[in-house]
Amino acid sequence: MLATMSDFPSTGTTRSPSALDLDQLNDAQRDAVTYPHGPLLVIAGPGSGKTRVITHRIAWLIEQGTPPWRILAVTFTNRAAREMRSRLESLIGDDDSNRVWLGTFHRICVRMLRSQGQEIGVPRNFVIFDSDDQMQVVRSALKDLQIDPKQYAPRALLSRISKAKSEGDALTDFSSSTGSYFDEIAARVWERYEASLRDAAALDFDDLLLKTLEMFEQDHIRRSYEERFDHVLVDEFQDTSTVQYQLARAWSGGSGNLTVVGDPDQSIYSWRSADIRNLNYFLRDHQDATEVQLNNNYRSTQQILDAANAVIDRAADRIKRRLVTDNRGGALPCLHEAYSESDEAEYISSHVERGMREGVLRPGDAAVLYRTNA
Ligand SMILES: Nc1ncnc2c1ncn2[C@@H]1O[C@H](COP(=O)(O)OP(=O)(O)O)[C@@H](O)[C@H]1O
Ligand SMILES: [Mg+2]
Repeated sequence: MLATMSDFPSTGTTRSPSALDLDQLNDAQRDAVTYPHGPLLVIAGPGSGKTRVITHRIAWLIEQGTPPWRILAVTFTNRAAREMRSRLESLIGDDDSNRVWLGTFHRICVRMLRSQGQEIGVPRNFVIFDSDDQMQVVRSALKDLQIDPKQYAPRALLSRISKAKSEGDALTDFSSSTGSYFDEIAARVWERYEASLRDAAALDFDDLLLKTLEMFEQDHIRRSYEERFDHVLVDEFQDTSTVQYQLARAWSGGSGNLTVVGDPDQSIYSWRSADIRNLNYFLRDHQDATEVQLNNNYRSTQQILDAANAVIDRAADRIKRRLVTDNRGGALPCLHEAYSESDEAEYISSHVERGMREGVLRPGDAAVLYRTNA
């Protein structure tokens, strides 16, 4: 993978001397950025400046006097966290930007568990099991239970266990209410799996979130964190799981200053318990929330947005909104139905080739997206 500048921590201590320039924002973005306090929901489509709103809002809050270390910003991937950190650096300089609590849910949970996890019995030097480690544990559990891994695929069992965990199911509840034979097997494997993790002083990715939440059920810990953050901001909120939403609530519990930014039409993790219902829960749990919609797109031409709107309009249950852009021109999107994979490849490559021959396209102007990486 190509490294980008944001993959590397910048050196030196620059501090942006000028005040935050709110003219770089459209009206709706500015409303969201300068929203003083309370729950805020920013609903927007792709390329409408959601991340820009979060970074500018952090900068604005700091400019208004909030200490950077009292701001917690959560992103969905490590890559997104690096990107946000670097955008923040260019706004406020790296001194302040490094003091903001910024990371993925998992990163932030690791940090909290390392400092206070012992209070709920998490080993001080816990190790984190990645998916290879997890698979190994499941395989050996199957062996112990004399279950044929060809009949019950370790990967399927693991994902069943992880799904139950990320939805906040407890093993005891899960075992007593299994709906299918598969679930019954999963429950038995889960039991062994947990025992192995305990023996290894290990937490899996789900545990990182669950243990942190469990920690926050302790009154004194919750209270100490309630005073720790003045503002909590969550990017890509449509991809949060139930447990992650509960964490965001716990972290913002004291101040009630929770900003969530999301695109209900863009939930890419629904196969992983991400739950766009969280947007509705947010509105239910924060009756006084202010909602800001960003409908102006800065990445695509109107032709592309019209096509996207036409497709998205057909989805049930969506919060109605339309994407518009000032980029009026652009070619019409084209749908080509191919007979085979090689026909697909042939069509695309000849299309690019023609564009280059006619001088309207440089190689770097063309992007080819695949559905899977297989
Ligand atoms: N008000 C604006 N004026 C000019 N460009 C903008 C504005 N808002 C966003 N952009 C640009 O649009 C692109 C998408 O912004 P980003 O914050 O990454 O959107 P999102 O997170 O919604 O996908 C970025 O290149 C950003 O700089
Ligand atoms: Mg974004």
